[in-house]
Amino acid sequence: MNLKDTIRTIPDFPKPGIMYRDITTLLTNRRAFAQTIIDMSAPYQTKDIDNVAGIEARGFTVGGAIAYELGAGFVPIRKAGKLPFDTYAQDYDLEYGSDTLEIHADSIRKGERVLLVDDLIATGGTAEASIKLLLKAGAEIVGAAFIVDLPDLGGLARITKMGIPVTALVTYD
Ligand code: PRP
Repeated sequence: MNLKDTIRTIPDFPKPGIMYRDITTLLTNRRAFAQTIIDMSAPYQTKDIDNVAGIEARGFTVGGAIAYELGAGFVPIRKAGKLPFDTYAQDYDLEYGSDTLEIHADSIRKGERVLLVDDLIATGGTAEASIKLLLKAGAEIVGAAFIVDLPDLGGLARITKMGIPVTALVTYD
């Protein structure tokens, strides 16, 4: 199955000029969803992953399933103010302004092997902030896995430059 065929594109959402890659149509296709989880997990089946870290919100949809597939735990990386216990926080730049992500300070034991996952990488700002959080929490980051890469925006190259192996299943040039 070609996963790209199951992803819907909405022009001019959320604002004019943006081609929004809508993965909800992949998620509701049970064969596509299963293949996505298998393909994102495959490179890490033999890598002894302790925890999968998923980025709010769409990273949660694949993160929990990949954690189950790998026999790993799951760690949520959330927008500021959502996590109830002690956190580390990391600011990151958006096109206009900035935002903050948080992780529970006790979510990872020092040296645990972590796979970062999200639905999509664009500029890589969200992934880079998440990597900084995971490092603060003591993780050894084994890789980062995405469904969609938008290479024109440079995110995959940016994370690769940090020395972290990155995979994406679908590319939109
Ligand atoms: C989207 C996407 C990634 C991020 C990628 O999330 O799910 O997390 O943008 O962009 P970047 O590589 O340029 O940082 P969004 O911030 O829209 O949040 P959501 O998943 O809660 O909708």
